[in-house]
Order: sequence, then C-alpha cells, then structure tokens
Amino acid sequence: PSAYYQEPYRPQFHFSPDSMWMNDPNGMVFHNGAYHLFYQYYPDSNVWGPMHWGHAISQDLLSWEHLPIGLYPDSLGWIFSGSAVHDANNTSGLGQNGKGPLIAIFTHHNDPLAKAGSDAFQYQSLAYSLDEGQSWSKYAGNPVLPNPGIKDFRDPKVFWHQPSEQWVMALAVQDRIQFYSSPNLLQWAYLSEFGQGLGAQGGVWECPDLISLDLPGKDSTVWALLVSINPGGPNGGSATQYFLGDFDGTTFSPFPQFMAAVAADTLSGNPYWIDYGRDNYAGVTWSGAGNRQERLFMGWMSNWDYAQQVPTQRWRSAMTLPRALFLAESPDGLRLGSRPADALQHLRQQAQRFALETGEEPLSLAAIPSAAPGLELDIRLSWDTAQPPAQVIIRAENEAGEHFDIGVAPNEALLFADRSNAGPNGFSEQFARGAKAPLLSAPGEARLRLFYDRASCEAFTTDGLTAMTNLFFPSQPFTSFRILAQGGRVKAEGEFWELSRIWD
Ligand code: FRU
Repeated sequence: PSAYYQEPYRPQFHFSPDSMWMNDPNGMVFHNGAYHLFYQYYPDSNVWGPMHWGHAISQDLLSWEHLPIGLYPDSLGWIFSGSAVHDANNTSGLGQNGKGPLIAIFTHHNDPLAKAGSDAFQYQSLAYSLDEGQSWSKYAGNPVLPNPGIKDFRDPKVFWHQPSEQWVMALAVQDRIQFYSSPNLLQWAYLSEFGQGLGAQGGVWECPDLISLDLPGKDSTVWALLVSINPGGPNGGSATQYFLGDFDGTTFSPFPQFMAAVAADTLSGNPYWIDYGRDNYAGVTWSGAGNRQERLFMGWMSNWDYAQQVPTQRWRSAMTLPRALFLAESPDGLRLGSRPADALQHLRQQAQRFALETGEEPLSLAAIPSAAPGLELDIRLSWDTAQPPAQVIIRAENEAGEHFDIGVAPNEALLFADRSNAGPNGFSEQFARGAKAPLLSAPGEARLRLFYDRASCEAFTTDGLTAMTNLFFPSQPFTSFRILAQGGRVKAEGEFWELSRIWD
C-alpha cells in the first residue's frame, strides 16, 4: 500500500489529493464509463492560493486515480470553481470528426484586477478536451460571460435543459443566483435571477446547482436549487442550503414555504440544509450520472472557518462520500434526502450484528483494530415514548480517552454531534463547536447509518432526511464504539462492518 495511507488522519475511503491544498469539487462529469472529479487545487502549498483544477477519475466511485492537473491559471486569471458537460451534439463546434467534446465552464478570477480595486475581476470561461478529459485547451474567445461590474460573480454550473433545448447556467452573484441560457455554450443570454432576501443570507452565495428530480411514484418533477453559503451555515461557517420549486426554462419559482421569512436560529423549516454538519461545503451533482429519481453528489469535507488550519501537513482536505440526492417526504413536507452511494456497500467486510438494551452503563456496539480503515454502523434505536431517554449517544473512543459523539435528543427531536473532546483542537478556536440538526424521525425511534474514517464521521438518518458530516483529529484512531443512554433505557439493534480502504 502507498506509504501515504499510513499518515495520521489520511482518509482511507474518501477522496483526498495526494499532496497540497484542495477545496471545492469541480467539473464532475460521467463520460464513457469514467467519473471525472476535478477540484480546486493549489499545488504549491497546503493553504489556499492561485487556483488550478486538480483531476482524478474513477470507474466505481470507490478507487480514484490521480491524473495530471487539468487546468492551470493563465493570463485571464486563476481557475475558480465550475462545472463540466459532455457536449454530445457538438453544439459548441469545438469537437472534431463528428465527436462532441468535454467542456469545462469555470470562473476566471483575475487577481491583479481585484487588487487594483476593480469590481469586474470574475468572469466565466471555457476549456475543452478532445481526448476524454486527458488534456484541455482553453477556448480562444474567453471569457464567454464577461463581468457586468459585479463583485462575486462566479461558480457556473451548466446543464442541458431538454424542454427548452438550451444550455442553462446557474451562477452565484453575491446574495442571489442568476440564470443564463445558451444554444452553444459560447454565447450566453441573461434569463432571470432568484433569491434576494430569501433563505439563509449570513454570507456570500456560492457554488449553485439546479437539478430536476421526479417525485417517487408520481409523474411530476420538482426542481432543487442548491446554494452554498459562507459564512451563515446552521452550525457556523460554510454550509449548503437548498430550495425546492419549479423551473420553466427561464425562471426558478420556489414553493411557498421558501418564500416565507427565515426565522433566525431555528433548525426547523426554511432554510433547509443538504447537511447540518460542520464539514460539507460547495457540493454539487455529477453531470451525466444518476437518473430521474436520484442524482449523484459530492461535497468538500471541510469548512472555511478552519480548513487552512487543520492538523495535516502533506495534504489538506478530503471530499465527502459520494451520495445520492432524492426527494423524500418528511412529517414536515417534501425534502431533499441524501444517502451514501450504493457503491459503498462494496467496501463492507464481514457483517456483525448486535442487539442490546441499555441502562445507565455504556455498552459496546463495535470494536475495530487501530489499523482498520474505518467502520460503518447501521443502528436502529427505540425507546418507550412515555419514558424517553434525555440523550442517546454513539461514542467513538480511543485508548487516550478522546471521543467523538453522535447523539439523538428525543425530547428536542434533535440529532447532534459533539467533537469538543475528540482530540487536540487548539489549531482553531472555531473547531470545537459541534452541530445540531432536526431528527425528523417517528416518535420512539431513530435509525442511523454512520461512516467513520480516520478523521471524519458522516451520519445519515436512514430515511435520508437528515445528514451530518463532521471532521475530528484524535491523537490515535478511534477503535471502540459504545452506546450510552442518559436518563432512560434504549434498545439498539443493528449491524456493523469494518470497511476496506480504497487506495492500494
Ligand atoms: C467556495 C469558493 C468558490 C470559489 C472557490 C475558490 O469554497 O469560494 O466560490 O470559486 O471557492 O477557490
């Protein structure tokens, strides 16, 4: 195995760059049997700097091959976030021999212009590949969408809108999303904008994505608009909210609950969040993958609050697990659900079952060797609704007594994470803070799927209604997983699997 995978905190079944700084996932496109993943990358340092697009591919979403850098900064600027599509019908005319090219649409960030005090320092440009993404040429007519004099004009996400037979771009513009259309990816016309004064507004809007999904069992389509925001997340710093509604090829019209004023400091109702944990940001979906019911998503598993300070040296940051996004009915109405991509089941080793009933004493759920790459826990909790426990905690612990807690608080209908004792956290004052989320489970029960890697835990309620992703940096790997019920009894049944690593 590669020596890197012995490093402390190196993710064992998540994507991380071999070395140096990474942030947002970019240009995710599935083409000819390969999932392409590009990412915001600075190859000269382990902190943010002049941005490139790093590149990796996978056939199965599990093992990734690192490829040479896809896009380098040029005279128009650094290469900020954006998307990629397969221009199958060669609408751009950039293809060759009747073959449509892969096209990357990204923001050029012109740093000298920004430093000179201009507002027009971000604009949208193209690059194309005629060899399945191995090499890229910048389009000679860049930029394709010039800046009208607005700061924060970035992160184009493009898709083909079949009903109106045009390309549509969602673009983050300060505190709102603008939509543009194009017949050929080269010329763009303004369509409409959405969001001023709506949803979470505690920071700049970034990295939008507009996707359509079918309602399960019904012949109707709902549109989901993903909007990342930094700061202003539900538990501080960076996070990704979403709006549900309709899109007619010109205008995004949100459902009524998204037009309502946002109540500050509440976890129920608008805004809704893709993930309530501290560490899932700037995520968008893959072009060309998924189906009418579900779309494939990946986020950056960090938070601008402390991303540049986390205690890794050779590399900084990993991506979340690949996830499916789908529409789900909650007791509170329609939501965007998420669950880990099915491919992850291939990482499972031998299943082990447990069925326990707790009192006040912590009981062991699972134990793994310290060299184990990770653990998946699928746990069904139930309690007497007449005597609910105050809290049920799933505690991951190491021999140094450091622990990371995921818990449910039945009376408050909350899912929570506590990493304040999960290892040294002095690298940033922001890091110790945990997270809370609406649990949205039926009374008397909760079901969780938990994925533990060396430095992260992703929690999904199994109906997909709540996701929570958090990092931690314990001084030794967590090897013991226990359950604690406080102020009441709880039944816990389920299975766990040691997981294999994805790198060899
Ligand atoms: C989000 C973001 C994007 C931008 C990129 C720069 O994390 O700020 O808006 O394009 O990172 O690296």
